[in-house]
Amino acid sequence: MGPVKRICCIGAGYVGGPTCSVIAQMCPEITVTVVDVNEERIQAWNSEQLPIFEPGLQEVVEAQRGVNLFFSTDIDKAVREADIIFISVNTPTKTFGLGKGRAADLKYIEACARRIAQVATGYKIVVEKSTVPVRAAESIQRIFSANTKSDLSFQVLSNPEFLAEGTAISDLKNPDRVLIGGDETPEGQRAIEALSSIYKRWVPQTRIITTNTWSSELSKLAANAFLAQRISSINSISALCEVTGADVEEVAHAIGTDQRIGNRFLKASVAGFGGSCFQKDVLNLVYLCEALNLPEVARYWQQVIEINEYQRRRFAARIVSCLFNTVTDKKIALLGFAFKKDTGDTRESSSIYISKYLMDEGARLHIYDPKVKKEQIMQDLSHSTASAEEPEQGLNLVSIASDPYEACDNAHAIVICTEWDIFKELDYERIYQAMLKPAFIFDGRRILDSLHGRLQQLGFQVETIGKRISQRIPFTASTIAQLDLQAPPLKKMKI
Ligand code: UDX
Ligand code: UDX
Repeated sequence: MGPVKRICCIGAGYVGGPTCSVIAQMCPEITVTVVDVNEERIQAWNSEQLPIFEPGLQEVVEAQRGVNLFFSTDIDKAVREADIIFISVNTPTKTFGLGKGRAADLKYIEACARRIAQVATGYKIVVEKSTVPVRAAESIQRIFSANTKSDLSFQVLSNPEFLAEGTAISDLKNPDRVLIGGDETPEGQRAIEALSSIYKRWVPQTRIITTNTWSSELSKLAANAFLAQRISSINSISALCEVTGADVEEVAHAIGTDQRIGNRFLKASVAGFGGSCFQKDVLNLVYLCEALNLPEVARYWQQVIEINEYQRRRFAARIVSCLFNTVTDKKIALLGFAFKKDTGDTRESSSIYISKYLMDEGARLHIYDPKVKKEQIMQDLSHSTASAEEPEQGLNLVSIASDPYEACDNAHAIVICTEWDIFKELDYERIYQAMLKPAFIFDGRRILDSLHGRLQQLGFQVETIGKRISQRIPFTASTIAQLDLQAPPLKKMKI
């Protein structure tokens, strides 16, 4: 094939949107069209109010949109015209049938493959960008082969995306590596070369790794599993710190200076690992191992998930325990609803789990997040209500505040769930004055570490992850044990 002139991406989400915007910026002579079945989403990409919040994204989109970057619902046209087609549709965890709760649902990927086979002609390189179970490329390939037409030929590549939300633009512009997997045939190698030629415009050659297809697919799952495992490891140590008097931040610093361990991804928090990828991918790995008759390996990775759930449960249990074992009818300000700062994404956010737990205990929640819309919060909480028979009743306990001070006014406790920078700069004296006493602050993200002393001086009872602070209300392992940590309401949640 000649030089790549047109790229199409199916799926205008957190992955497809930013990835293609950066490709368009880096390759001015290539026309990039991002398509999606969701009309509203495409309209938003074409408006001033982009459908996702991502630092730096707006600038890139505004510079390229209408020049060589287009957002459209005309999937067939874009597919027909493209030399390279990225598939970046979602692959949610199955909620029914075989592999329920663990396996990835590939129905959207399959639908895309069938559509491409139906409408495309000529030579196409189809690139799997969505996180998929190992051997998904093979499935796509088989769909093409079974629907082959004399005027269509194709190569399927795996090119997993490693961007993290909140830093997507810089991750895309300066990636640690770009991974491309393809067939070990000469045609496969030529397709790899064609895709590499796109990235080579801004990524040093040494950072472009090429492998066979399955290594590439498995590397994505393994990378996310390793990252998730580090978070569970440090969170397990945080539980130990709280009962021994050690401080998990000090431990993380001490072990992180060992270059073999490294200092990143060692932040203990209430969040555990939130977001759309980690839980899904670890579950996927567990399912794969079970299906391949590797039960020991499956159990090993399953434990990473269990520590994640435990971390959220025990923090929620601590809130109840500190508030004199009852939160019924107490106002609690929950600060932060996104799964991490600098994104409006709430998928698998710990805030959902913590909210749910407190709602089940009858707490009145006043939630504030600078980027998450009210409708999204309500939708997340209605979908996950444990008392699913009466979800509306649960939602009556929830109010969305338009600023953090309003959320904290007359509250018994503040629970910080997301590490938004603005929460470090609040006027805590003003907040303390307006709260009921004793006023509790649960710093689930360790963002107020430098303020803990001052907060205590003001009169706050401060509780945090991985460190004992407040001495006034004793809190020991045995008091946690009194709460039902084994079978909490969260277990019943439908997420
Ligand atoms: C998704 C997956 O969550 C992730 O695992 C994968 O690595 C990449 O794709 P994300 O971009 O965050 O990541 O998903 P999402 O924001 O849900 O976007 C997917 C988009 O695909 C949605 O806008 C959806 O409307 C669209 N879609 C889905 C299609 O256009 N066609 C379909 O058949 C299905
Ligand atoms: C992740 C991977 O980093 C990325 O490579 C992949 O492509 C998609 O999944 P993302 O989910 O956007 O990206 O965010 P990430 O920064 O990895 O954080 C995931 C979760 O882990 C967040 O809830 C975050 O708060 C939490 N986390 C992260 C910790 O609790 N401690 C840490 O030290 C780091």
